[in-house]
Amino acid sequence: MADNTKFTTRLGVIAATVGSAVGLGNIWRFPYEAGMHGGGAFLLIYVLFVLLIGVPVVAGEFVIGRYTGENVVGAFKKLKAAPLWHSVAYIGLLSSLLILGFYSVVAGWTVEYIYQAATGFGGATSQEALHAQFDRFTTSGWRQIFWTLLFLAINFFVISRGVQKGIERMSNILMPMLFAILSVFCVNSLFMPGAPEGLSFLFHPDFSKIDVSTVLGAMGQAFFSLSVGMGVLMTYASYFSRSTRLISTSVTTAVLDTLVAVMAGVLIFPAVFSFGEAPAAGPRLVFEILPAIFTTLPAGSMWALLFFVLLFVAALTSTISLSEVVIAWFVGEWGWSRGKATVVYGIAIALLGSLSSLSFGPMAGFKVFGMTFFDLLDFVSSNIMLPLGGLLIALYTGWKLPRRILKAQLSAPGREPGAPAPMAVRLIIFSLRFICPLAVLAIFLWGLLPH
Ligand code: PHE
Repeated sequence: MADNTKFTTRLGVIAATVGSAVGLGNIWRFPYEAGMHGGGAFLLIYVLFVLLIGVPVVAGEFVIGRYTGENVVGAFKKLKAAPLWHSVAYIGLLSSLLILGFYSVVAGWTVEYIYQAATGFGGATSQEALHAQFDRFTTSGWRQIFWTLLFLAINFFVISRGVQKGIERMSNILMPMLFAILSVFCVNSLFMPGAPEGLSFLFHPDFSKIDVSTVLGAMGQAFFSLSVGMGVLMTYASYFSRSTRLISTSVTTAVLDTLVAVMAGVLIFPAVFSFGEAPAAGPRLVFEILPAIFTTLPAGSMWALLFFVLLFVAALTSTISLSEVVIAWFVGEWGWSRGKATVVYGIAIALLGSLSSLSFGPMAGFKVFGMTFFDLLDFVSSNIMLPLGGLLIALYTGWKLPRRILKAQLSAPGREPGAPAPMAVRLIIFSLRFICPLAVLAIFLWGLLPH
């Protein structure tokens, strides 16, 4: 098919969807969130959220996207949904802006680290020297802005090339490579002196650590990591063909995504304990630990280079999907060319990204609710907007969308229309109607209570 507006192969569908899901959320955000919220307890609750809420809402987004074949706003128009439901689309568009606003900064760090690794980390070999470098880098305003903007320029260049050529081709090659290299590093970590402590931190749940912030954090991380609740998957599903199986694609995405997060944990925590670091170091955790791991390896800079190139690609396939939601909307609803949409949105993100990149240096003292601008963008989008979007998507698909459409989309192609739905379909529908809405609402209410 010469059509540049659809994914052409089954592998392409999986690679692009998993490409969106697997990103800095798995390798950078998961370890630091788990580190701050008690390790094993966080992991356990996180996995429950992925299974009980994540997979059904992913499937729900796929249904709306493929059935309508539209961008987020166009989809609810085509469904003739009441105005309340259109808010899902606007929550999604706003989330794209907020997430790209902080994500592009960390993605910029990956580019800086590619440069550092290629130039031998400026001669720094000890762990202390590498830490000092990270500090100098993140506190310097202009360097931060430079790398953020460089990353964004690459992102919007790929976006301007279109869905199939840009997104599918790149994901097909690079996602499997990321997986392979992560496996190598995990095995290496298992031989570190801190491995027993690190693994027990990650896998042994300490239930006394569970409080509302653990649960809210795990829910936010589940939505964030699956790219769900904001229309990214809806937009991608509008490029799926009728033969794509929605439930198995949701499950495969969730399994691979969770696997990569767990692998990142296995890679990071043994090293954290071996180097005597604190697991709760926050957003800097992974960037402090990774270079330290590389110093212990023969040909460390070469490994570092390979790793950061792959991390960069993982980030890029996610930012492409984040950008695509808004670009598809500009093109579909405003009638803009792809080029114009790319330039306009690129400039908006460049401004926001530059501002949030200063949160580690010149603007470190600027805090709202005790959070820097960077942390605020992250907290509001992941822990509030995505779960809210997910709640509305679950309610819409579970209660409003005609059941016949839902069943037909979720079932394998070619199924008799009147035949009873398979178990998987019934479970997804049950979760969309009851489990997702009740769980998300309960956690929001719990979070609002005084603690
Ligand atoms: N899931 C991506 C990651 O884990 C981030 C993302 C969130 C992408 C929301 C799209 C939508 O890095």
